[in-house]
Amino acid sequence: MLDQDILQKFENGLDPQDPTASSIPCEILGYGEISCVLQINNDTLIAAKRMPLFASSSAAEKYAADYRKYCERLRTAGLLVPEDSTSIVNGHGGISVLYILQKQLPPSRFFHKLIHSQDAEELEAMIQRIVAEIEKVWTYNSENDPNIKLAIDGQLSNWVLLESGEMAYIDTSTPLMLENGREKLDPELLIQSAPSFLRWLIRWQFLDDVMTRYYDRRLVYTDLIANLFKEQSPDLVDSWIKVINTSTTNKMDALEKQEIEAYYKEDKLIWRLFLGLRRIDRFIKNKLLGQRYEFVLPGKIKR
Ligand SMILES: Nc1ncnc2c1ncn2[C@@H]1O[C@H](COP(=O)(O)OP(=O)(O)OP(=O)(O)O)[C@@H](O)[C@H]1O
Ligand SMILES: [Mg+2]
Repeated sequence: MLDQDILQKFENGLDPQDPTASSIPCEILGYGEISCVLQINNDTLIAAKRMPLFASSSAAEKYAADYRKYCERLRTAGLLVPEDSTSIVNGHGGISVLYILQKQLPPSRFFHKLIHSQDAEELEAMIQRIVAEIEKVWTYNSENDPNIKLAIDGQLSNWVLLESGEMAYIDTSTPLMLENGREKLDPELLIQSAPSFLRWLIRWQFLDDVMTRYYDRRLVYTDLIANLFKEQSPDLVDSWIKVINTSTTNKMDALEKQEIEAYYKEDKLIWRLFLGLRRIDRFIKNKLLGQRYEFVLPGKIKR
């Protein structure tokens, strides 16, 4: 069981440098750029996404409301988004921490795992399914209320093939959507996770790029294919490009391998740099200033 009370106790006793050392049992299910995904108190039914981003509970409430709206819209678009709820607790130093509680799905069914366990033919059928899911978002964007646009992050690790054969989309914790041309998500919230000494640079250079790429169909697919390099499966690149190019004809310029390779190189550099600088920020806060560093950071990531 994972109720508000247990989450509050967990947060009170949490050491972000070592979440598993908590008095309440905790396992790490995954890392995001912003959130960290945890199994807390041996509750194997729930994946708890911890977001220590908010200066007040009202700011966390607002984010949670946008999050719910985003999930609702994705479901209206026809995507399968796992059951969920939200919980807000008091963090250290007066901050508010939002926990997004999502139904826990089996790790082995996530796409970045399946690419290593299924054969190429099965995988081709699966990438077709993912393309169909991504296309639903663009159908929603063009056929629904013209004032609402949804973004989606098509990366492999965001898709889960359920035992039922259905494909679920789990990366809902960053609710990127435009209403009347305006982004709902306050970019300053995402900036919270960046090293403090670099925020000016990120505001100025990267934010625009990272926040807008998920609204661009071609970039979403580019990012998805580039992800095969990160997941050490470059051998799938050619056949998947073909699947995407044949399923999206007339709507999008064909993807090209060279361009994807170049994109990957740049993206890899950005995220490596970003993580490295977050570690430095953590070192400065923890060791030099004796302050608390709120974010749980991953160890070495193979790219
Ligand atoms: N419902 C779930 N059940 C089991 N594992 C999950 C679940 N949700 C996420 N995970 C694990 O955590 C990883 C990261 O999750 P998710 O995609 O939600 O975060 P993210 O990519 O960091 O998103 P953001 O950057 O928006 O915070 C997933 O790839 C998966 O390994
Ligand atoms: Mg993700």
